[in-house]
Amino acid sequence: MLDTITVRQMPFEFPDEIDPVFIEGNHERSFAFIAGSLLLPHLEPYLIRSMKAAQKHVTDPVVRDGLKAFVAQEGQHYRIHQKFNESIRRAGFPGLEALEKELSDDYHRFSRSRSLRFNLAYAEGFEALTMNAIKRIMEPNGFGEDLPMYMQMIEWHFVEELEHRTVAFDVYEHVCGSYPYRLVVGTWAQWHFTSWIRRAAKYMMSVRPPPKLDAEEKAERKRASRLPEASRVRDMLPGLLHIYLPSYTPHDAEIAPGMEALAEKYSEMAIKTSDPSPAARSV
Ligand SMILES: [Fe+2]
Ligand SMILES: [Fe+2]
Repeated sequence: MLDTITVRQMPFEFPDEIDPVFIEGNHERSFAFIAGSLLLPHLEPYLIRSMKAAQKHVTDPVVRDGLKAFVAQEGQHYRIHQKFNESIRRAGFPGLEALEKELSDDYHRFSRSRSLRFNLAYAEGFEALTMNAIKRIMEPNGFGEDLPMYMQMIEWHFVEELEHRTVAFDVYEHVCGSYPYRLVVGTWAQWHFTSWIRRAAKYMMSVRPPPKLDAEEKAERKRASRLPEASRVRDMLPGLLHIYLPSYTPHDAEIAPGMEALAEKYSEMAIKTSDPSPAARSV
């Protein structure tokens, strides 16, 4: 399932200003979501630079085609997130600029001065964690019908992450191929980008704290939200631990049939689609 990599140019547009608490009444989730989106126009260009640097070392045509398709998809992702982020910035969080500068400096420094092996292991650390989390969050059928534009953006992005799920792994294995090194750097990478997301979300919470609730309102909110959150975390754990085993390969990931239907939905919605490499079926 989902064995092709299609590059879709999406027509997503966002209002000039977006209320940053767009998940109603849930500052924490809204800001975590925004922080993730703010990360991507720094992280994804870094992944692209790493893949392009690896390209000349890739002799396997299937892996090379996958690499090119990965670069094309990630290039679309961060451009759309940039549009969304511009609308969010107008809502006023001046401290985000310094946080983003720090992140951008990190990624440019990694491209400049770290080894290709480090950069490719970082890429796979990111892709492994996100792909397995996406499976848990979005399968079997996605987020539902009549989604607001920003949720469609996420759904489209996540479907394409599933489509190119094997590429960073294959490029790392082909060019470098050490499991212990991938484990160490990949785990560090996961700490690096998730801690940035936490810091950015925490800053947003400090600027726009949630309203004080009385005891009864707090209890009601707990009843309404805590159980689903707890069960989701518990559901995600087995899949996330699996990525640290020496036997882990994204080629073994079984993708739910509903993801194929979503891929078709977003192909239909796209302004333009291309399959940059008919051989890019590296699954
Ligand atoms: Fe992406
Ligand atoms: Fe990706």
